Amino acid sequence: TVGKSTNILWHDCPIGQHERQKLLNQKGCVVWITGLSGSGKSTLACALSRELHSRGHLTYVLDGDNLRHGLNRDLSFEAEDRAENIRRVGEVTKLFADAGLICIACLISPFRSDRNACRSLLPNSTFIEVFLNIPLEICEARDPKGLYKLARAGKIKGFTGIDDPYEPPSDCEIVIQCKDGNCPAPKSMADQVISYLEANSFLQ
Ligand code: PPS
Repeated sequence: TVGKSTNILWHDCPIGQHERQKLLNQKGCVVWITGLSGSGKSTLACALSRELHSRGHLTYVLDGDNLRHGLNRDLSFEAEDRAENIRRVGEVTKLFADAGLICIACLISPFRSDRNACRSLLPNSTFIEVFLNIPLEICEARDPKGLYKLARAGKIKGFTGIDDPYEPPSDCEIVIQCKDGNCPAPKSMADQVISYLEANSFLQ
């Protein structure tokens, strides 16, 4: 989107990200979870938030489904609106990370270019993309909201993975997948992300 605001200036405050991070004993960042509907994005986000919170870290979860009840209630699932959905959430994650929080965003975010645009908003290496690589067959068998069934019956048009595309990340920080047909439990997915955060000095 082309900016329409003119004659605007940037204001800096004396208390910045550095000061906030010192208070919080953590480095502000974005954990961006992408994957098909039913892959467990919200489950991972909540498990991660719970685990980090219990260790004394401040997190905030931005869940695609929830945001579509408010901030993004005017957006459909057409490609253009999905792009705007991801753009807005990317801008919000940037604010939360600047606030010093570990911001956990969980959205299908099916298009690589939209995810990369969010990445480019954040300072180097503070955008951590997590691909929840759960095969469509498994997501469809879970069908927690019955949406795949409706999509197969033609009652929902443009459903990701059925008649709308999902572009997997080509190069991301973390991939979570099933082994021998067994998908990882929420705690073990969260631990995989926490190991990354620890190894990269996001948690003090
Ligand atoms: S996107 O693609 O990133 O803009 O989607 P997102 O904002 O994450 O919203 C995904 C949830 O919306 C429900 N839903 C659909 N998903 C995909 N395609 C279509 N057409 C659709 N219609 C409704 C669905 O419950 C998604 O939730 P999750 O948690 O991913 O299952």
